[in-house]
Amino acid sequence: MKTILVTGGAGFIGSNFIHYLLGNYSEYKVINLDLLTYAGNLENLKDLAHHGNYLFIQGDISSSALLEAIFKANPIDYVVNFAAETHVDRSIREPEIFVRTNVLGTANLLNVARKYWVNRDDSYGGNKFIQISTDEVYGSLSAKGFFTEDTPYNPRSPYSASKAGADLLAQSFYATYGFPVVITRCGNNYGPYQFPEKLIPLMINNALQKKPLPVYGDGLQIRDWLYVEDHCAAITLVLQKGKVGTVYNIGGRNEQTNLQVVKTIINYLQKHVDPLITVDLIKHVADRKGHDRRYGIDPTKIQTELGWSAQTPFHIGIEKTIRWYLEHQEWLANVTSGEYQSYYQKIYGRLEQ
Ligand code: NAD
Ligand code: DAU
Repeated sequence: MKTILVTGGAGFIGSNFIHYLLGNYSEYKVINLDLLTYAGNLENLKDLAHHGNYLFIQGDISSSALLEAIFKANPIDYVVNFAAETHVDRSIREPEIFVRTNVLGTANLLNVARKYWVNRDDSYGGNKFIQISTDEVYGSLSAKGFFTEDTPYNPRSPYSASKAGADLLAQSFYATYGFPVVITRCGNNYGPYQFPEKLIPLMINNALQKKPLPVYGDGLQIRDWLYVEDHCAAITLVLQKGKVGTVYNIGGRNEQTNLQVVKTIINYLQKHVDPLITVDLIKHVADRKGHDRRYGIDPTKIQTELGWSAQTPFHIGIEKTIRWYLEHQEWLANVTSGEYQSYYQKIYGRLEQ
């Protein structure tokens, strides 16, 4: 049995990852450490509450005392660090918390893990620390070319700068201490349990209520979309076979403009839910500050070295995702009550006037 400390496991990708891991393997025990910020939700994991290989701990990756207690009490073999502030729009308004969690929190996690994993000859046995990073650390592409693992850092938002800071710290731990870090960099994930501040669930939620669909600027920005379960399979493979001290880009070669994505959602809902959900709901609003124009990932390395490739075509993944939200409207109603309302007013307040 191997014990994995998963941080941020109550969020979107983290909860999908824990479901994927415990659903497919019996040899892993998962300890989920999550602060339960606005983005963390135990409802995402309620079916696992009594699972024998699952333990939840509420807490902050920035607390060394808590991390020390967890490492002391449990034989942690691996860390998968999802915990982060993740929304670019929030980082533009309140950058401090992004530095605190994403940079200082990751530094703390690296430091405590090193303290408990290192032994006298500086070898770390089979331990591994997976830092879940993002393609946004590479910045913005023009119409041609792709991000490879060697593309230089060029983060352009407080969010991506804080993630780049975490990557650099992780890489420095490998260079300085031989600490067994692997970094993964993925594009935009979509699927169940994504908080409706992000493009796809926000558009589904608004369309169902026939509220305006706020498209930033001309809507021709490009993102490289990956179904979350494919991402979880890639992370599992990196955990099992990834080479320490290296980076793996994870992407499904699936670039779409934001308008294409929004129209796909409208078409599905118009056909299957309500003919009054039409493109007339689209409202072009002021562009995001410093908006990255295009992301495009070259996943050749993980395909050739680890044999991974995305299995879910976008037209299938997006239908599965929309259906999941239609079948979980109570979940959607719960997460959009409370703090979400004041956030929505701040970002989109004037839309409906
Ligand atoms: P999310 O916002 O849905 O979840 C983040 C989770 O981290 C929440 O459960 C939250 O409670 C927890 N958390 C926040 N601060 C914490 C702290 N100080 N201590 C402990 N837990 C804390 O995020 P997500 O979309 O699931 O992203 C997970 C990771 O993947 C992040 O590191 C993100 O940068 C990265 N990533 C996300 C995407 C994407 O498309 N969503 C793409 C590439 C990389
Ligand atoms: O590329 C990976 C990144 O993808 C992750 O590192 C981030 O954590 C994740 O949030 C995501 O960042 P984006 O900024 O690309 O995702 P978001 O869903 O916020 O926006 C996707 C695109 O849609 C982006 O071009 C902005 C646009 N958008 C977004 C919202 C919320 C709109 O046009 N309108 C909106 O209301």
